[in-house]
Amino acid sequence: MLEHIDPTAQEALSALENASDLQTLDQARVRYLGVNGQFTALLKQMGSLPKEDRPKAGVQINQAKKKLEALLARRKEELEMAAAMPSQATDFSLPGRRPVLGKCHPLTQVTEDIVKSFRKIGFVVADGPEIEDEYHCFDALNTPADHPARDSQDTFYIQSPERPLLRTHTSSVQIRVMENQPPPIRVIVPGRVYRRDTADATHNPTFHQIEGLYVDRGVTLGDLKGTVEFVFQELLGKDVKLRFRPHYFSYTEPSLEIDFSSSLTRKMGKEWLEIAGCGMVHPKVFDAVGYDPDQWSGWAFGFGIERIAMIRYGIGDIRLFYENDLRFLKQF
Ligand code: DAH
Repeated sequence: MLEHIDPTAQEALSALENASDLQTLDQARVRYLGVNGQFTALLKQMGSLPKEDRPKAGVQINQAKKKLEALLARRKEELEMAAAMPSQATDFSLPGRRPVLGKCHPLTQVTEDIVKSFRKIGFVVADGPEIEDEYHCFDALNTPADHPARDSQDTFYIQSPERPLLRTHTSSVQIRVMENQPPPIRVIVPGRVYRRDTADATHNPTFHQIEGLYVDRGVTLGDLKGTVEFVFQELLGKDVKLRFRPHYFSYTEPSLEIDFSSSLTRKMGKEWLEIAGCGMVHPKVFDAVGYDPDQWSGWAFGFGIERIAMIRYGIGDIRLFYENDLRFLKQF
């Protein structure tokens, strides 16, 4: 039996060494080192050797076994590595695939530009809920339930005892801001608003507005004109002209509408486009939020973001903003 150890070990070593893939390697392992393997058989025969031969055979067999196990481990690693390698070489000179980068929606871009301009002159952004109550959307803005101005701002109501509604304008946030802090106030409020309108080229049941509110001592309409002019010139070019026309809003007195003219409106075939509503904050609005109308004065305005974006980019249909058609969105 002793004379079989070395040849069997040699045979096993070269079988492991020559295995060219993991499957052949495993076959060799089973053949020599498996439960019924040839090398394992030698181990089993140890017990039947004469006592004096056992130590020598033991040493010999253990050394051979260690060698075999080490070789098996090395070959396994080598063949696993080889199996994991790609079958074809990588061509590192090929140009890479660029991931498609998204960008901000045109309405977001316009909103960010408007906010940037107002920040330069000390305005901060305020926020309010889109699901509002009637009080903040209408009553506190001096628009009681029987007021005709409610007709043009019909909206969606939520079925619940408090009758929450989707806000029809960002003006509701004027009230929320003033309820929460004392004057002076200088905020703008960009946000989404809702109306029960049928979608067409210039209407959509949801759209976006920016509200402005400035409250301090001795505020005048002149401040409003200067502010609005500054922002629109930054946004739509130096050749912008603004025109203020008397109008009616229940939460301002006097109230005005702002018309806008520039090379952009002429391109759309019109000299003047109506662009915003504004006015001096009505004393009743100050009463509603607990400001003393004899001490404080202020102005407010609101305009549609879609309107500005349509003028800026020459877009003829408001619905394009909501369709998420990449052919449209990629142009901005
Ligand atoms: N809330 C008005 C609208 O949605 C716009 C507006 C008009 C806002 C006058 C104001 C304002 O703050 O003073 O049509």
